[in-house]
Amino acid sequence: MRTRTLVFGLTLAFLFIYGAHSVTITITNNCAYTIWPADQTSAQQSQLSNTGFELASKASTSLVVPAPWNGRFWARTGCSIDGSGKFTCATADCGTGQVACNGNGGAPPASLAEFNLAANGGQDFYDISLVDGFNLPLSITPQASCTVPNCAANVNEACPAELQVKGFDGSVIGCNSACIEFNQPQYCCTGAYSTSTTCKPTNYSMFFKNECPQAYSYAYDDPTSLFSCTGGPNYSITFCP
Ligand SMILES: *[C@@H]1O[C@H](CO)[C@@H](O)[C@H](O)[C@H]1NC(C)=O
Ligand SMILES: *[C@@H]1O[C@H](CO)[C@@H](O)[C@H](O)[C@H]1NC(C)=O
Repeated sequence: MRTRTLVFGLTLAFLFIYGAHSVTITITNNCAYTIWPADQTSAQQSQLSNTGFELASKASTSLVVPAPWNGRFWARTGCSIDGSGKFTCATADCGTGQVACNGNGGAPPASLAEFNLAANGGQDFYDISLVDGFNLPLSITPQASCTVPNCAANVNEACPAELQVKGFDGSVIGCNSACIEFNQPQYCCTGAYSTSTTCKPTNYSMFFKNECPQAYSYAYDDPTSLFSCTGGPNYSITFCP
């Protein structure tokens, strides 16, 4: 009996110290068209039960995420089912041929909402990343007095010609980062540029930073792009905020 009480007490202490709890993440589509949000849980954890779904304009869906949790959300656009029954999307496709992404990430360019929940003594870290390019504007709103990073600009409209990704009708549907487009070390922060002191902003990352000052524009953009929150709040992600 005493052993069980002790184990129970230690479990509670563990949950308290490491912040294990459930976090509700509500995804809202404020775009004028249907989108297909998706999520990917980082390695070492099993995927959420819902890894991709359709979301009509103005609709919301809530997901319950077990914390600690590390993963990302994005949204696909221009999705359809082809003659063979395969589901594909014009941007951020995850390659499963289905609406569910089943652990796959989205093909760049894709604007990302990244979370590391209950990471460090219960502290959450979250950010918007354009390191893999941009496809949709988005914001992250903690249900607490914490920073609301907002990337509301239509980066596609302003995208430099060499980074543009066009749809079948010729419209710009995504904007690649320079790393994705050119795959060079100074843009990808690899090789001789693999540290925060050697990898500096470039004219291309500065384009993204100017459009969305609160989003990652390159890998070492932490000081102005990474936010934290304590107390285990719920979060909202809004596409086309
Ligand atoms: C960025 O710099 C490269 C190399 O110097 C140049 O070719 C390119 O036109 C510049 N792009 C922008 C958007 O300023
Ligand atoms: C998060 O949302 C759930 C479901 O609405 C609610 O039960 C829970 O109390 C919320 N958590 C916080 C910390 O507000």
